[in-house]
Amino acid sequence: MFVTKFGVLALIAAGAQSASAISLSSKCQTTLAGLVVSSEASCLNAGSLVGLVVAGKNTSLVSPINTWLTGLCSRGACTNETLANVVSNVTAGCQSDLEEYNITATSAQLTALAQEYYPTARKVACLADTSNNNKTLCVTETLTNVQPYTGTITTSNVGDLVSQIAAGDYPNVPSNVTCTNCTKAAFDVVHGAFPSLFDDSVNSTITGQCGASFIDGAEPSSITETASTAIASNSSSGALAAVPAGAVLGVALASLVTVFSAFAVVA
Ligand SMILES: *[C@@H]1O[C@H](CO)[C@@H](O)[C@H](O)[C@H]1NC(C)=O
Ligand SMILES: *[C@@H]1O[C@H](CO)[C@@H](O)[C@H](O)[C@H]1NC(C)=O
Ligand SMILES: *[C@@H]1O[C@H](CO)[C@@H](O)[C@H](O)[C@H]1NC(C)=O
Ligand SMILES: *[C@@H]1O[C@H](CO)[C@@H](O)[C@H](O)[C@H]1NC(C)=O
Ligand SMILES: *[C@@H]1O[C@H](CO)[C@@H](O)[C@H](O)[C@H]1NC(C)=O
Ligand SMILES: *[C@@H]1O[C@H](CO)[C@@H](O)[C@H](O)[C@H]1NC(C)=O
Ligand SMILES: *[C@@H]1O[C@H](CO)[C@@H](O)[C@H](O)[C@H]1NC(C)=O
Ligand SMILES: *[C@@H]1O[C@H](CO)[C@@H](O)[C@H](O)[C@H]1NC(C)=O
Repeated sequence: MFVTKFGVLALIAAGAQSASAISLSSKCQTTLAGLVVSSEASCLNAGSLVGLVVAGKNTSLVSPINTWLTGLCSRGACTNETLANVVSNVTAGCQSDLEEYNITATSAQLTALAQEYYPTARKVACLADTSNNNKTLCVTETLTNVQPYTGTITTSNVGDLVSQIAAGDYPNVPSNVTCTNCTKAAFDVVHGAFPSLFDDSVNSTITGQCGASFIDGAEPSSITETASTAIASNSSSGALAAVPAGAVLGVALASLVTVFSAFAVVA
């Protein structure tokens, strides 16, 4: 799996999969509505996912994703306890929905995966490029660079794009977009945490596209980590204002499902 190339795009874009394409059980909707407004889960900044829905079907998702991640990165990290609570609430409330997505792992298995991969996913999501007198999240920069080749990424087409990528059919994006200081820094983070993902064949795919220096481990000086090093309190106050919970449900479930199933694939 060519993690550095489109892993981040796939994870994040899939989270925005059109809410209308998914019909959720009412029990699951209630659970997710609770999650979005839960102060405990505010470390995921889930309330801001509403922006993905209100963006409108033909509007680029890059700006709402940027807003969501900027907020998420400025918040303290979720504790393992919070991750476990989120997973156990979702697996209990959305059991039948998860089965529809062929996710049959137990709550304990999903919790272990979430706890194992969350710190790395957060670090990658919060990398930023400072090279143009500016601090731009690497995800935002990369999605912006990719859009001329994929077309504008919107709620109406992101599902197709993700299915295509999941099937191994990558959009034809030139190496000046895939092999940047941002993607190199993402490679370094993922490789540092999960060296076993990079066997000979993955390495040679990467060096074939990006050259040997891409995997030399040198940290690009223009890239910085923006993830807050604080740990979110498990009972943080400041519950989110009322949000159109109905609208955000599909998005939230799709994010969780996709993130966990992507983890299951790489695990
Ligand atoms: C999980 O559900 C319980 C019971 O409904 C609720 O009190 C708690 O806030 C929820 N936690 C999260 C992280 O959603
Ligand atoms: C979105 O784009 C599609 C395809 O170009 C078009 O048919 C549709 O009318 C657009 N919808 C809106 C709300 O602009
Ligand atoms: C779940 O698995 C079945 C049988 O393999 C398959 O037909 C179906 O498309 C899968 N559903 C999803 C959402 O992937
Ligand atoms: C969270 O859980 C993971 C997986 O069980 C573990 O590796 C990690 O050390 C835990 N983190 C903390 C801060 O306890
Ligand atoms: C900062 O970065 C954004 C996104 O890449 C870009 O649109 C903007 O022009 C940049 N601003 C400056 C002052 O370079
Ligand atoms: C990549 O190269 C193409 C063709 O030379 C150019 O049009 C495009 O702006 C470049 N993209 C980036 C992000 O540098
Ligand atoms: C793949 O590349 C990484 C990073 O340079 C290196 O640490 C690792 O040993 C390589 N894996 C193999 C199987 O050569
Ligand atoms: C990428 O990182 C290298 C090494 O740190 C640096 O010399 C170069 O200027 C950076 N490139 C850009 C476009 O920021």
